[in-house]
Amino acid sequence: MATTRRVPLSFPWLDEREEEAVAEVLRSGRLSLGPTIDRFEEAFAEVVGAPYAAAVSSGTAGLHLLCIAAGIGPGDEVVTSPYSFVASANCAVYEGATPVFADVDRRTLNLDPAAVEAAITDRTRAVVAVDIYGYPCELDELRALCERRGLALIEDACEALGARYRGRPIGSHGLSAVFAFYPNKQITTGEGGMVTTHSEDEWRLLRSLRNQGRTDSGGWLEHARLGFNYRLDDVRAAIGLGQLEKLDGILAARRAVAMRYGELLAGIDGLALPCEDDADHERSWFVFVVTLPADADRERVILELGAHGIQTARYLPCIHLQPYMRERFGFREGLCPVAEELSARTLALPFHARLDEEDQAYVASALADALGRA
Ligand SMILES: Cc1ncc(COP(=O)(O)O)c(C=O)c1O
Repeated sequence: MATTRRVPLSFPWLDEREEEAVAEVLRSGRLSLGPTIDRFEEAFAEVVGAPYAAAVSSGTAGLHLLCIAAGIGPGDEVVTSPYSFVASANCAVYEGATPVFADVDRRTLNLDPAAVEAAITDRTRAVVAVDIYGYPCELDELRALCERRGLALIEDACEALGARYRGRPIGSHGLSAVFAFYPNKQITTGEGGMVTTHSEDEWRLLRSLRNQGRTDSGGWLEHARLGFNYRLDDVRAAIGLGQLEKLDGILAARRAVAMRYGELLAGIDGLALPCEDDADHERSWFVFVVTLPADADRERVILELGAHGIQTARYLPCIHLQPYMRERFGFREGLCPVAEELSARTLALPFHARLDEEDQAYVASALADALGRA
């Protein structure tokens, strides 16, 4: 049955505050390398409890820069998650390294530290750990492992602004972490990202690398190293500042929407909901991804929900099975059985801070119908 009702997968929360902040930057004429960037970085660092933050043009750019800072290069291997967005593996490939995929934990969908340990070889240089869907990865275990084996640990926190691990915010644990601000994220700048670090030297290096290899003391046409244009501009930083001002409200609203989904979907037989928080892990709600029953036909569910105007997404395909990864590195099915099984069954439902109760009930009932268990 065709419908005119539309429930989008995501929607950013922007209002007059961002409009005013952007207008202020436009009037100032300082559209790039201006003071708004510094203010955004300082505010962000404070929110996540890191001493330094460097704004970048995207989460992907931030991950790439951390790979460079870790000295990753040709011949190196980087262990990472197959159940993630491609950027968490691509960042190593950009530098000529080989991604090595370790399987994930079935409950959290995050890297299984035992699988990471098993994947380490003499060529391993770093681990890129992802906080998937805003649920903190096993940071302490992974850090201890990396310290023991002399590896760099890069945290892909692109989906996890506001999450807490062992009572403290992601970003505050001494590791370098990357956050992202695409419009489906907890906060958006349109495009944009932030690298947080606990090392002043690394912070200076990141600022240089994002700015064509310039240094704070050198001139505009003096380039101390091979750099990139990975800068965030002041217009986006202004949007980011407006977003940070309402971060607590955004996070609370997203949590309330997630809790409501939990209640609405609890009765659907065989449907698994996102894993719950525990004493060490507090999720920041990025998306609401359910795992369909093993015998369900996901494509049919997607089509049926689509016919009701409900947008869904196949979050997330396994990275190692993407065409370019198969071609370049020869990865095949069977490499990461847990990730592969779950990746074929997981589905993202519409989710954002201001998704109303009526739409949520509509999604829940359409999903129950589509699964034939209403
Ligand atoms: C886990 C993860 N890593 C990296 C990225 C890349 O961020 P961006 O899209 O800002 O480059 C994203 C965002 O889509 C992500 O979800």
